[in-house]
Amino acid sequence: MANLFSNLFKKNEVSVLGIDIGASSIKIVQLRRKGGRAILETYGALSLGPYAGVEIGRATILQPEKVIAALTDILREAKTTTKRGGLTIPFSSTLMSVIEMPVVGERELAQMIPIEARKYIPVPITEVSLDWSIIPKEEIKAEGREGSPLGSVAKKIETQNILLVAIHNETLREYQDIVQKVGLDANFFEIEIFSTIRAVLDKNTQPVMIVDIGAATTKLYIVDRGIVRASHTINRGSQDITMTISSALSIPPDKAEIMKRTIGWTSDASHKDIADTVAVTVDHIFSEAKHVATNYQAKHSKSIEKAILVGGGSSMKGLTDLAKNSLEMPVELSDPFSKVEAPAFLTDVLRKNGPEFTAALGIALRRIQEE
Ligand SMILES: Nc1ncnc2c1ncn2[C@@H]1O[C@H](COP(=O)(O)OP(=O)(O)OP(=O)(O)O)[C@@H](O)[C@H]1O
Ligand SMILES: [Mg+2]
Repeated sequence: MANLFSNLFKKNEVSVLGIDIGASSIKIVQLRRKGGRAILETYGALSLGPYAGVEIGRATILQPEKVIAALTDILREAKTTTKRGGLTIPFSSTLMSVIEMPVVGERELAQMIPIEARKYIPVPITEVSLDWSIIPKEEIKAEGREGSPLGSVAKKIETQNILLVAIHNETLREYQDIVQKVGLDANFFEIEIFSTIRAVLDKNTQPVMIVDIGAATTKLYIVDRGIVRASHTINRGSQDITMTISSALSIPPDKAEIMKRTIGWTSDASHKDIADTVAVTVDHIFSEAKHVATNYQAKHSKSIEKAILVGGGSSMKGLTDLAKNSLEMPVELSDPFSKVEAPAFLTDVLRKNGPEFTAALGIALRRIQEE
């Protein structure tokens, strides 16, 4: 009897890791499922700059051996206790498009999509793994006025929109190799955007715009009813803020990085020189984001309810205020750890550090929900 109970207990109480290897740092989160709840066990981040001989906060391109070394280090430093978990795949290693297909059954669709996908994917279809989901139809809008010629336009073939996602098999193999060499039992991969959505969205009826401010780039995703409807990459990120502070104040990048993280942007006059410098890059990012949002709203005749800021760059002081001004819509800073249970004394620090852990937390949650 005791055995039976201990087995049940074990099965119900599993720990999983969420791993997010970003361009500038690795983030890990370990969760444990207890009953129906997710409990935070440990988390940690490690800058990759030093593994490539550049400053903390900078984007790097590392050889797999260096990634393996860094991942091994952070798993040890964070005192993780499990080898099970999942890994995010960078959005930049994927191709995402919305395609139009006739309304047919799932099975027929599964046969048609790989053929249709050739038009959108610039590499041989055998070199990629494909995934897709059907985008739910909007409420039907009245088209054409009664009696007008438009009202009697010949019926078109009914079509549906499909979100098509492709990942290079080679990329998947590289990640599998890293996981295996680190000795992890993480055979589970997910494109970072889907992990992020899980960590920040509930049931939003209106579209929301997720803004992921990383080191070298800012990724934008417009998500409507849980499905990614549009995406865009801006070639500016938080490291550009550091670089402009560094050149404007003639200080080394590592000092500028510290200034960015401690001072950031304030509207008071105390740090006007830094604030003005910071605002240049931030304005560039948000004016492009605003443009993407405006286009989407015009194309779909729908307004975007709010923007949610994620990624390490979004933690900068004053950034949410700058975003509100530029985007002219409600802006929220993500608080992914609010989805899990943690000791009360950690609440403030988790809220402050949360944005950079959004994707890592999201992928760990998926594993928890699946177990
Ligand atoms: N508290 C902070 N204030 C300001 N900037 C910060 C803060 N914390 C981190 N950053 C900046 O955020 C950037 C890293 O963000 P993040 O870890 O989300 O990027 P990444 O995941 O490595 O990149 P990507 O998602 O593009 O692959 C760095 O440039 C870093 O300087
Ligand atoms: Mg990232």
